[in-house]
Amino acid sequence: MLTEDRETNDETQQFRELDVFIDAHKDMEGNLIVILQKAQSIFGFLPRNVIEHISKATGRTQAKIYGVATFYTQFRLEPIGKNLILLCQGTACHVNGALTIEEAIRDELEIQDGETTEDGLFTLNNVACIGCCSLAPVMMIRNADGEETYGNLTKEKTVDILRAIRERESANGRQAQ
Ligand code: FES
Repeated sequence: MLTEDRETNDETQQFRELDVFIDAHKDMEGNLIVILQKAQSIFGFLPRNVIEHISKATGRTQAKIYGVATFYTQFRLEPIGKNLILLCQGTACHVNGALTIEEAIRDELEIQDGETTEDGLFTLNNVACIGCCSLAPVMMIRNADGEETYGNLTKEKTVDILRAIRERESANGRQAQ
């Protein structure tokens, strides 16, 4: 019950933050994209109740909002995993074996680009250059603790990194019990 209350409070706070932003940008031309970006940064993705809320707050139809949210690949309608893997597919990484690294991730986690593992631990996203080309091939892993960049990847190194994260997550889970 306590947890539920806390979640409700958090959500109220999140909607409040979104409303302040919508209010500040209501007269801005083309504001729907920045509002959706803000909503996604607050909620992590764009759940149905958030789309409904934005629709009411901006006077746009939900169909229009879904149209924009599904047109741009930056928007997500589903929650992402606890660890977001940003796998670089830029030129330097591509030339240095990004596809092999993607294959290793796919084999280890059984997910494709844009998908989340069943246990909700990982989401894979192929991205353009992340600015560390000298370390190619590179992936960045973003989670609640921040983000870490891993370079000079090989298949083995990639699998080791993913297994270490999984192990750490399950150790954290055991401690929390
Ligand atoms: S191409 Fe991958 S970091 Fe630049």
